[in-house]
Amino acid sequence: MKSPVADATEATVNGVQTPLIELRNVSKSFGGVVALQGVDFSVNPGEIHGLVGENGAGKSTLMKIIAGVHTGYEGEMRVEGRLVQFRSARDAIAAGIGMVHQELSVVPDLSVAENVFLGVQPVKAGGIIDWAGMKAQARTLIASLGLDLDPNTRVGSLPVGVQQLIELSRVLFSGARTIILDEPTSALSPPEVARLFVALRKLRAEGRGLIFISHFLDDVLEISDRITVFRNSRRVATELRANLDKDKIIGHMIGRGSAEMHMGETAVLNARQDEPPLLAARDISDGRSLNGVSVELKRGEITGMYGFMGSGLIEFARALFGRHAFSRGSITLEGKPAHFRSTAAARRAGLAFVPENRSMMLFRTEPVYKNVSIAMLDRIHKLLVKPQEEREVAKHHIKDLQIRPPLTDIPLGSLSGGNQQKVALAKWLTNMPKILILSEPTRGMDVGAKEDVIRIIKTLRDKGVSILVLSTEPETILTLADKIYVVKRGAVVSELSSGTVTKSDLLAAA
Ligand SMILES: Nc1ncnc2c1ncn2[C@@H]1O[C@H](COP(=O)(O)OP(=O)(O)OP(=O)(O)O)[C@@H](O)[C@H]1O
Ligand SMILES: [Mg+2]
Repeated sequence: MKSPVADATEATVNGVQTPLIELRNVSKSFGGVVALQGVDFSVNPGEIHGLVGENGAGKSTLMKIIAGVHTGYEGEMRVEGRLVQFRSARDAIAAGIGMVHQELSVVPDLSVAENVFLGVQPVKAGGIIDWAGMKAQARTLIASLGLDLDPNTRVGSLPVGVQQLIELSRVLFSGARTIILDEPTSALSPPEVARLFVALRKLRAEGRGLIFISHFLDDVLEISDRITVFRNSRRVATELRANLDKDKIIGHMIGRGSAEMHMGETAVLNARQDEPPLLAARDISDGRSLNGVSVELKRGEITGMYGFMGSGLIEFARALFGRHAFSRGSITLEGKPAHFRSTAAARRAGLAFVPENRSMMLFRTEPVYKNVSIAMLDRIHKLLVKPQEEREVAKHHIKDLQIRPPLTDIPLGSLSGGNQQKVALAKWLTNMPKILILSEPTRGMDVGAKEDVIRIIKTLRDKGVSILVLSTEPETILTLADKIYVVKRGAVVSELSSGTVTKSDLLAAA
């Protein structure tokens, strides 16, 4: 049974042609959780098809069906007109389908070159891997996305945004005719997104079909020829880009008017001038990515740090938390010197850190409630906490953060990306720190989920927690911060603590 939808399903961009991918009436459930219901979807050659929808709407599930990751589903799939039933991701790759997954899948211990050519190393006569050729080619490919990197660099040592670009280059230049990009820009700065879009348009001009999933609706509107909206496991609209705007998309996504859902484009700042800082970092330098960063965090205040990827934000957050060594500068906590030698030492002093790569801090195979209570277990002796109490605490947060589905005992890994992020935050609510450092707290979240997270962060602030938010998204900073530092090339270039600030002020300063 299909619901009536606004429709451009059959529309082709360049006249009548066989779609690269065509799905009909596809349904998929995981145990009791319905992920897709009667979905039709297609991609044409020479088309960029945008796909949007709230967290948990079913986007990644559909893409994993196309990419041969999920093999059990109802409905039909055709590739270039041929009915297919993939048995594995390998089958999909053989059929010309490449996918960049939402979760980074670069291999941290391998080099840049090895990651770019993962599984498809060029070989010389005699079957020997052509290392020199591979490195040279890797350098050229990543350069087209604006990366100037030694191909020998270990990928794990690079910032998440750069890792994301490396992962993208692997699939973009693999020769796949259909390319699926699931949240490819979440860690990228505006100039990097612009360069990625140049590469995507080139692939489109070559007649490839691209599927572009993102919560950044401006990006989707800019790059797509056609846009499909999912809501609650169903496709609710497929329309030509020309017939859509941001409000219409949000309307389809949430099924109601969107005026109240807009994130901040401007902020009126009101920093606490009077109080001494709870934490002060002065002149933090590492001789490389940090060139003298100074910030002050106050009790009951949200401090925002804004900068592009590569500006040093990530390194600074890690330096505060004892995870990144610095050669100059000092940190004081409540006026006393505090040079944390380890994450554990920082934690004992009352600092909590939710890094941009949240999956590092989560246990995907453990149930949701265990992931929520893990911070609580640091505090209370493990033996004293009964699973039933852990569940009760988790239940409370699941309700408060509107984590879906609202179940305590399913494995964390079965939640959608956005809902996993809520769990990562929830665990700090059980054990309120003095200082909470959040790197990209709303990355990859849809408008509704962002609102939930923003509400929680503000509640913690109002309870007296000092919060540092580091983000490459100006909207996130503007919505949250009482005071803003703009960081560029490892230094604070602008400090804003009062008056009205706009998105263009931030973009212009960074
Ligand atoms: N492997 C799995 N096991 C169990 N349930 C799953 C699994 N993968 C997805 N689901 C469930 O299917 C539904 C759709 O999830 P999906 O990951 O497709 O959402 P999404 O639209 O990609 O969301 P997001 O924007 O947060 O990434 C969710 O309810 C999710 O919890
Ligand atoms: Mg997803």
